[in-house]
Order: sequence, then structure tokens, then C-alpha cells
Amino acid sequence: MSTVVIVGTQWGDEGKGKIVDYLAEKAESVVRYQGGSNAGHTVMSGGKEYKLRLMPSGILYKGTHNIIANGVAFNPKVFLSELEGLKKAGVDVGNIMISDRAHVVMPYHAMMDECMELHKGKNKIGTTHNGIGPCYMDRDIRTGIRVCDLMEEDVFKKKLKTVLDTKNNVMKLLYKTDGLNYEDVLETYLGYAERIRPYVCDTITLLNDEINAGRRILFEGAQATMLDIDYGTYPYVTASHPVSGGVTVGAGVAPKKIDKVVGVVKAYCTRVGEGPFPTEDLGKDGNKLRETGHEYGTVTGRPRRTGWLDACVVKYAGILSGIDYMAITRLDILDDFDEIKLCVGYEYKGKKYEGIPASLSVLAEIKPVYETFKGWKTSISKIRKYEDLPEEAKAYLKRIEEVTNIKLGIVSVGPDREETIIIANDIF
Ligand code: GDP
Ligand code: IMO
Ligand code: MG
Repeated sequence: MSTVVIVGTQWGDEGKGKIVDYLAEKAESVVRYQGGSNAGHTVMSGGKEYKLRLMPSGILYKGTHNIIANGVAFNPKVFLSELEGLKKAGVDVGNIMISDRAHVVMPYHAMMDECMELHKGKNKIGTTHNGIGPCYMDRDIRTGIRVCDLMEEDVFKKKLKTVLDTKNNVMKLLYKTDGLNYEDVLETYLGYAERIRPYVCDTITLLNDEINAGRRILFEGAQATMLDIDYGTYPYVTASHPVSGGVTVGAGVAPKKIDKVVGVVKAYCTRVGEGPFPTEDLGKDGNKLRETGHEYGTVTGRPRRTGWLDACVVKYAGILSGIDYMAITRLDILDDFDEIKLCVGYEYKGKKYEGIPASLSVLAEIKPVYETFKGWKTSISKIRKYEDLPEEAKAYLKRIEEVTNIKLGIVSVGPDREETIIIANDIF
């Protein structure tokens, strides 16, 4: 048995796609277990850049099984356009499986997402407008449409009629939009149904058979711990469970079948969308991080908010997901800084504060306690061995390990597969 979960430890965009792609070389299956097309995972292979939203990041390896499990909010339109894009780029997209239990993102979900955000005004969450929250909301109030429903024309017709009547009432009366036409949605989705049918299956049985047969499986988290619906900075979060526990309900895999967890940690910190961000830097360092790191959203193109690495957040992620190893990414973005700061604790009303506050008003007032590290002022992208990293970089990494109490497993020094330093050889 060999199953590894990859989770984001901050507010997303840590470089999960790169790490999944790197580890996928040894994996036989890669599984998305939550989130949907709100994710944007970048993978660089052979000098080409691929931006994946729904497709598991193992897709670039021939023969790997790429599984979209039941916990994913599945948007067939995005899936099909991604599939076409990959085919055009010459990628062999043979082994894709979509769970028959996944919930389908419908056009009214994206419309509701946008309307609800507009309605919230200055209190908006800053969602990606992909309809992810409204899709999970329908699942939870039991008015969702699943992939298996879409596979049965009569069932789909009836369900769509009932749900769309209600949604149209809300969209017309409350949000003053024109609503959607039943026949149009029906025709479009029946078209999608035929195109996705070859990929739809019972992924739970398939995946558990694979696990029991000892195949190597990677579970690819989307979003991150601080965006988790329960553990993040609620309500400024996404609507699913990116933490490793999300795998058990999102893919139908029992907790005792998870072997290892790798937490992806960006060497500094970013957030896109609204909500608390204790180490946010609105000054020149924050700007320099954004510009050097080209920190603009993969899905929405929005400038990402930037700041120094918050080890308290990573420690929290480690506890919640049982992280065995950290994969620290984008260390090269810090190459040109004279000084690098690391948040090693919080203070609240003049006293030390342990843990991550649930209350937004406490979060707004906590003060990060920083330690300052000397920068290495040299390019590290060509380094492939930990020993060869500058002493200053090693000191920074060591302190992150100490404060978070998590071992360093991988250091990424560039977006390419090759630009990776492996420290832990037992991840798979
Ligand atoms: P994800 O959502 O966690 O998969 O991350 P994104 O793909 O949204 O953003 C991470 C960005 O950093 C992508 O453009 C990656 O190609 C890039 N990247 C990943 N690791 C590294 C690294 O070590 N150095 C640099 N310079 N870029 C990296
Ligand atoms: P990856 O997988 C960064 C953020 C949105 C918003 C909040 C809720 O690429 O790391 P949603 O559309 O999910 O309802 O938006 O979550 N968000 C992300 N931020 N990376 C992501 O994915 C994100 N997915 C959602 O910006 O603040
Ligand atoms: Mg991303």
C-alpha cells in the first residue's frame, strides 16, 4: 500500500501542481478529491506550461490513471475544454475516470455565485465565480445533480425542471436577472453527458481495488488549509475540505489507508480574494514578492496579496493534516532579497498567542512576531543537492522546520520538474 496526499498549507497557489507532477512520475494514479475549476494548478513539462483546473496533475504522464473523485464539484464544460486543450497540445489523455457520485456544476451555480457576491457588496468573499459554493450548497440541501443523474436522460430532465424552476425564481425575483431557459440548459447538458460518458465510472471501487493491489496513489489537494471550510478563515474560505481528511470523504478511502502526507509550503505567502492575512505586506517587500514571483491568479488573473511566510499557519496545517514532510516551493523567488522575514509566533493584546484564532476580530488584531534572516543574494535555480544550497538558505529552511515541527522533504527552486531538490527518499 502506498498512498500520498498532497495538501496546500497556506491560502493556495503554493505550487501543488508542480509537486504533484514531480511525484506523479512514480505514481500509478493521481486523484482530485475536492474543489473544482476554482483551482489553477500549473505544471511545466518539456519547457511547456500547462494550467490545469479540473484535470489531475498526473495527466502529462502516459499511462497514469487520472481520477476525478466524488468530492469534486465537476464542471463538464470546463472539463471538456481542458480535455480538448490537452489533446491539441499532443498529450495522451487516455486514462481519465470521473466519479458517478460527483456533483455537477450547473450554469445557475456560476450565476448564483456572482449574484451572491454582488449582493454582499463590500463583504464579498472574492470567489472565483466558478459556482463552487452554490454547487456544494445544492449537494448539502439535497437539490444537487450528480454525474450519475446526468447519465440517465429521464432522471436528468425531471431533476433539472424542478431545480431550475426554484433557481429561476431566486435569480429573477431576488437577484433581478433573466434567469435561464430550461430547454437550452437541457440540450447543452445532454450534449456534455454523451461526451463525458466514456469516462464515468464507480471510482470508489476502482480506487480501493488499486490501493489493495498496492498501486502507488497520489491524492492532489486543491486550495489549501487556510481556505478549508471549517479550518480556514471562515467565511473567507472555499466550500470544501482541502485538508488530508478531505480524502476520506472526497474519494471514499478509509483514513487508515492513507500512508503519508506532504504539505506544500510557498517560501513566502500569498492570498487571492478577501479575508485575514496576518503577514500581508502592503509595502515594498510585498510588491517585490508580487513582481519577482509574477503573483497573479491562474484562474482569474487577479493580483495576489503577498507577505512573508507564516510558520504558525504551516504548523497548524501540519497538525490538521498530519503532514510528514514539507515541500518548500519558490525558494528561488527570495534570491534577491537582502533580508527575509519569517513569522514564528503571534502576539495578541501584548501577550503570546498560540494556535490560529477562529474569531475574525482576533485575527485582525494579532501581531506576527518576526525573525529576520540574511538573504543569500545568488541564484539557486541550478542547485540540485541540499548541501549545495547557500548557508543562508539552509538557515532559513532549518528554522521553518523547527517552528513548524515538520521535516523538510522537498525544496523546489524553479517551476520545471528538474528544478527540484529531494531530501526525503521515502515519500513513495
Ligand atoms: P498551485 O495552485 O498550488 O498548483 O500553484 P499555482 O500553479 O497556482 O502557482 C504556482 C506557480 O509557481 C506556478 O506558476 C508554478 O509553475 C510556479 N512554481 C512552482 N514551483 C516553483 C518554484 O520552485 N520556483 C518558481 N520560480 N516557480 C515555481
Ligand atoms: P489552487 O488549487 C487560491 C479562493 C478564492 C476566494 C475563496 C473562495 O490553485 O490553490 P471559491 O471560488 O472557491 O468559492 O472562492 O477561495 N480560492 C483560491 N485561492 N488558489 C486556489 O486554488 C483557490 N481556489 C479558491 O480566491 O478567496
Ligand atoms: Mg493555483
